[in-house]
Order: sequence, then structure tokens, then C-alpha cells
Amino acid sequence: MMFNATENTRTLSGMRPTGRLHLGHYHGVLKNWVRMQEDYDCFFFVADWHALTTTYENPESMSEHVWDMVVDWLAAGVDPEKATLFIQSSLLQHAELHLLLSMVTPLGWLERVPSFKEQQQRLADKDLSTYGFLGYPLLQSADILMYRAAYVPVGEDQVPHVELTREIARRFNSFFGKGADYDRELEQATFLIGKEDASRFRRYRRKYTEQGDRNAHEHAEAMIRNHDQLDNDQKQLLAGYLEGRGKALLPEPEALLTEAAKTPGLDGQKMSKSYNNIIAMRDEPKRIEKSVRAMPTDPARVRLTDPGDPERCPVWSLHKIYSDSDTREWVQSGCRAASFGCVQCKQPLIDKILEEQEVIGERAKPYVQNPGLVKEIIVEGNRKASRVADQTMDIVRSAVGTKYL
Ligand code: TRP
Ligand code: SF4
Repeated sequence: MMFNATENTRTLSGMRPTGRLHLGHYHGVLKNWVRMQEDYDCFFFVADWHALTTTYENPESMSEHVWDMVVDWLAAGVDPEKATLFIQSSLLQHAELHLLLSMVTPLGWLERVPSFKEQQQRLADKDLSTYGFLGYPLLQSADILMYRAAYVPVGEDQVPHVELTREIARRFNSFFGKGADYDRELEQATFLIGKEDASRFRRYRRKYTEQGDRNAHEHAEAMIRNHDQLDNDQKQLLAGYLEGRGKALLPEPEALLTEAAKTPGLDGQKMSKSYNNIIAMRDEPKRIEKSVRAMPTDPARVRLTDPGDPERCPVWSLHKIYSDSDTREWVQSGCRAASFGCVQCKQPLIDKILEEQEVIGERAKPYVQNPGLVKEIIVEGNRKASRVADQTMDIVRSAVGTKYL
């Protein structure tokens, strides 16, 4: 497990509500969320406003998509006792932060985000020359900065959005970071670490800011991190001071790249609804059996006696995810020696997928039978998220001067 200067393990990630999820989401994203919820302070949310930026034409399906997706999260093992689950649009604070960040966001930064032009071209049938779509990554920055998250687990395509978030945070902090109480707070924090340590800290800081000494930076950071007299805000303050920034009102998050290999779909391409090649997380067993049986295999294996090469076969890609080493060994040698046919090769894979579906289905069952349970989880999650969001907005409003009462 990794730690930054302040031992902040706050982790935030969101997903657009696209309805029922498939095995690509499960292996690529959700299993990672389930692992992370054990050690990190996780917030996972439904990015419904983000969905609206591109699918504003059919609002009827939104709510169904939201609930279906949350059930799939729970079915994957995301645990509301460990992670906070909420819906973006339930927290109006996100809209306010988005608006306030927009005041200091240069248009060029948004126009240069790679997904902006890419998506406009890819989804040419939609009119995406909208204000909302241009603001998509800034809304995402607001989502992240709202929770003062240290980590954002995302796929590769989202890394530029986290990068933008870091730049926005830096810009916001440099405009507004040195609030009226800055000097007094800084004095108090340095007082708490004691006279001797304070002067050591200043020496390190000078070495770092004047000579770029990384070592000195590390020492100083370790001093702050290990100081039990300091609370998290004070650590944050000193970390910002160390780097010559103002008070880090909004800390810069780090993208955590999810490493899972892309789950291949039934045709060997990446699994995706738009390719029509998915197995859903909660699918019909009969349908799964049928579609795996229909999967294309190495075209060299025309007859049972023709040897094949698993590397040219999408079924093998799924074996790599689902099968233990014995089975994988069996596939490799049997395929190359033509000692069995593809039908036989697919059977243990089908069995494994069905086994997994059973676990997922069992976990989903109480929520499918009683959708009220899912709503309760979200109401509670919204409440918890709101507490953090209110704290952030308090800081932000003070910083930009819109806190009057
Ligand atoms: N843009 C993300 C996606 O399409 C979803 C998202 C919205 C998100 N806000 C976020 C992800 C904040 C991480 C953090 O997948
Ligand atoms: Fe693919 Fe298995 Fe057939 Fe080989 S035997 S081509 S790995 S399905």
C-alpha cells in the first residue's frame, strides 16, 4: 500500500451509468475497487451528469441504468460498509465546484484534452459541440477535488483527465491558496513540531526550493508524515509550504492505473456493448453457454485433427483470465497436438464463468428482490459524501470570497 505525505488514502472513482455491466467492467474495474476498499478510504459514485453530456436525448432510461449499475457494483462485492457509494447529481456541491473552478480554467486547457476532439469525431452522429461536453473533464476535476482525493483509480483513457485535475488544483491553489489565516496557521503548525524540528524543516525546505535537493524534500516530507502532533490539515499545509506553494486547499490527486488486461469479448475484440460481444455480469446461463460455444477459434483448426495455436484464439484469452495453470497447460498442449476439439476446450471455461455468475447472482439477489435496499445504501452514501463535500465547499467558498454568513 502506498502513502503520500499526509497518509491520505482517500480514493475516488466514478462510472457513467450505462446500465447492466459486463465482464469487462468486472475484471477491469470492479475487482480493483473491491480490493481497494479494504485498505483505502474509497468513494465510488455514479457519474450521471457525465452521462448526460453525451446521452441527453433519452432521459427515460437514466434511472433504470443507475440502479442496474449500482446492483452490479454490489454484486461484484463492493461493500457499502467499507466504501461510500453515491450519486453525483444528488450532491449539488459538484455543480457549484464545477462552476467555481470554471472561473480559473483557461478554455485552451479544455480544448486540448485529447478525449474532447476524439469523442466528437467518434460520436459524429451526436451534436457534441456543447458547453456541457467541453466541460466534461472539468466536471470530473470537481468530482475528484471535492473529496480531496489522493488516488483516482482509472483506465488509461482517463489519465489526461486526472492530469488536468492536477493542473486545475495547482492553479486554484496558487490563486486562492494563501487565505487570510495562512500565516497564522503556518506559524501554529511549525510551533507544534517543536523548535528544533521546525528549524530542521526550514533548512530542508531551503535546500529543496533553492537547490532542488530531492533528498531534502524527502527528509522534510518524512518529518511531517511522522509527526503525531499534526492533524491532516496541518500536514497538508506544511506539505504545500515545503513546495513553495500556498496552502494546498485542494490537493493534487494521483491516477492509479488499473492494470488488469483488457477482457476480450466473444469475438476477440475488447469487450464492449458497442461491439455486441459481451457477457453480462448477470447473464442467462443458457445464453452464456450458447455464445461461448459460438465463439470463433483459431481458423487453422478446421478439422479435429488440425493442430492450432492458442495465441490466435479468443477462447484462449478468456482461459487466461478464468483457468488455473493446470487447465491452461491442458489447453496449450491439447490445442497444439490436436488431441481434442474446440468444443471440449471451451467446456471448462464455460464452467468457470457459470461458477462466477452464480456468486455474482447470489450477491445481487437481495437487492434485486428488494430494490429499497439499494436506495437505502445510496441515501446513506449520499449523506456521507455530502459531509465531506460540505467541508470542501466551506473551504472553497471562503477562498473565492463567496462565503458571507
Ligand atoms: N469520465 C469517467 C469515465 O468515463 C467517469 C468519471 C466521472 C470519473 N468523474 C470521475 C472517474 C471522477 C474517476 C473520477 O470513466
Ligand atoms: Fe482455441 Fe481451444 Fe480451439 Fe485451441 S482448442 S483453437 S485454444 S478453442
